[in-house]
Amino acid sequence: MASSSLKEHWSSKWAFIFAAAGSAVGLGNIWKFPYITGENGGGAFVLIYLACIAIIGLPLVIAEISLGRMGGENPIDSIRNLVTRYKLKPFWTAIGWLALVVAFLVLSYYCVIAGWTLDYTVKSLSGAFTHMTPVEINNLFSSLLASPGKMLFYYTLMIALTGLIVSQGIKRGIEKAIYVLFPVLVLILIALVGYAYETGFFEQGVKFLFQPNFSKLNADSILSAMGHAFFSLSLGFGSMMMYGAYLPKKISIGNTALYIIFFDTFIALLAGLAIFPIVFAHGLQPNAGPGLIFQTLPLAFAQLPYGHLFASLFFVMLAIAALTSTIALLEPIIAYTLKNTRLTRQKITLYACFILWIVGLPSLFSFNLWAHVTFFAGTLFDNIDYLTANIMLPINGLLVALFATWALRKVEMKKALSLPHKIFSAWYTVLKYITPVCITVVLVHGVL
Ligand code: TRP
Repeated sequence: MASSSLKEHWSSKWAFIFAAAGSAVGLGNIWKFPYITGENGGGAFVLIYLACIAIIGLPLVIAEISLGRMGGENPIDSIRNLVTRYKLKPFWTAIGWLALVVAFLVLSYYCVIAGWTLDYTVKSLSGAFTHMTPVEINNLFSSLLASPGKMLFYYTLMIALTGLIVSQGIKRGIEKAIYVLFPVLVLILIALVGYAYETGFFEQGVKFLFQPNFSKLNADSILSAMGHAFFSLSLGFGSMMMYGAYLPKKISIGNTALYIIFFDTFIALLAGLAIFPIVFAHGLQPNAGPGLIFQTLPLAFAQLPYGHLFASLFFVMLAIAALTSTIALLEPIIAYTLKNTRLTRQKITLYACFILWIVGLPSLFSFNLWAHVTFFAGTLFDNIDYLTANIMLPINGLLVALFATWALRKVEMKKALSLPHKIFSAWYTVLKYITPVCITVVLVHGVL
């Protein structure tokens, strides 16, 4: 194996699992999963989503972590190392480049939405929702979107927090932060599920999430379930590869991948169990779309006992989930620059955050100053979202699957993975034949 330039590694298996699960658990789980489930009729959609996680998600998570381990570097240099070592076509390095570009673009707009969660944290802590009428609560959200100054403030704050943690490195920065943030996130979520249980509408929530009603399903829902499986597990961004490279060689990949998948799925379902009973308790609709969390939920909290307290907890949790993801999105970019320049990690983070801040501005202004600039998929924000989520991500996932199974030799993968023979074979076959077909279908649909 070529020597790796990485100076640090995770100090334990759990540091890695928390960091990788923290990357996977984000706005996708708590903001997006409940609302797309709501829009697609509940239980049946959840079932399809779980199937996607098993067929596309798990094999790809394992593949990405393995590639990181085998390459031992940031995504670009990892793939480059493998290409040189096994004399493969240089074309494959596109995987690393694509991953970094997607990560940067997604990070730029992710921080905009993450900024909203900070604003809502402050709002709920100050009791802003209590005794507000539905109209007032709706106005709260639209007035946030209409004020670029306010959004800019929280957007900047989010980027600064991310940069601060990443600038401290793996052990002193990311690991330390994640050891506090991730357990707090899980505990708050469990408390919220308990609270939802107390509303008396828990059963209705459970039914909505788990009772399949296939009549509400169509081809679009299946495709959005697949797309979401990708996004939710942070696949195609190089983050899993990067975190995998920091994983000490003695730790098993298959086992840790299962934990990551478990946390990601479990937390998405718990978020549904926390949100829907509260929504139903107030006689609101589950299919409110993207505004479910920022409009419907505050409304429900405003009317419930201790709503003030639990609304605050909810938005703190959301902000934490976002932060553990932005950290993972930034790290591969920093690691790449660290290896290929003579700058220090602190300086690189500072510059990267500055460029990131600039790149995200068009997304931020898409909600106000530049809302009138629309083409193709909608505003600039919509276009970046569309381009990254529907096109770049599936392409990169496809390339990863093909690279791991058609370009690299089976024995090499087997050595890196050290799984029992039967499990390895099953994984390999799914990744080689089934995953690529599924992704191609999503991709073609996304483009059309
Ligand atoms: N998985 C995250 C979520 O559910 C979002 C995300 C996508 C992400 N790709 C990533 C986070 C890469 C970190 C790294 O919200």
